Amino acid sequence: MDRNVRRRAPKPKQDTSEGIRLNKYLAQAGVTSRRNADYMIAQGKVRINGRTVRELGTLVLAGDKVDVSGTPIAPIEQRIYLVLHKPVGVMTTLRDPQGRRTIVELLPKKLPRVVPVGRLDYDTAGVLLMTNDGELANRLLHPRFGVDKTYRATIAGRLSPEDVKRLHEGVALDDHPAAGAKVRVVSVRAGYSVVDITIHEGRNRQVRRMFEALGHPVQTLVRLRFGPISLGDLGVGRTRPLTPREVAALRLVGAGEEGRTT
Ligand code: URA
Repeated sequence: MDRNVRRRAPKPKQDTSEGIRLNKYLAQAGVTSRRNADYMIAQGKVRINGRTVRELGTLVLAGDKVDVSGTPIAPIEQRIYLVLHKPVGVMTTLRDPQGRRTIVELLPKKLPRVVPVGRLDYDTAGVLLMTNDGELANRLLHPRFGVDKTYRATIAGRLSPEDVKRLHEGVALDDHPAAGAKVRVVSVRAGYSVVDITIHEGRNRQVRRMFEALGHPVQTLVRLRFGPISLGDLGVGRTRPLTPREVAALRLVGAGEEGRTT
């Protein structure tokens, strides 16, 4: 069969058993949203098997090679799910205009394009999921699903019972109050404490701002867990593939089941 004929979707909004719409393919691969994919296609940035495609109903068939501005986009059946133990001093971006270290240098070489599921601050370490499954990544980050994230914070001083109550009830931040958190004091030492805190929001520098608001600035911060995925004994700067069981657990969370306990 002529591939170019087959590629025209009979109804513009439907995939067929033989192919998947190009905008959906790009969205699933984590490149961009479906709407923006249409824009990129119309701009002539997307090629299939080396030929620029501008028709929005175009289907991607098994074996097709898709690239965006020359960057190959892995077929969706080659889904990749990794956990990286992000070190402090590394940007959670694929490129940094200021030339700082980025997570890219920590990923296995020759890996198809993967994107981080959310961000950790430059000065935060710990669990960072990486995947080319853009749809699952978007779901895991969507506030509707409110995936639990647990952080181990070393903070100045010690929390009073009142501080713990405020964390449970929702600390006032400068924009709007944080949702209630789960807190476990791990240890108290001279001048500092180690505290595990679980939140389901993902606001900018949220944990740091919550402790700062209580007068206990964070000294170090490590994400121990993202939903069902734990850091375990993964070394700093190392990656490991998720197990099938972990991927299945993430999918449950992304389907709105079992995400949140706070
Ligand atoms: N909260 C923070 O303050 N920083 C992070 O990197 C993640 C959560």
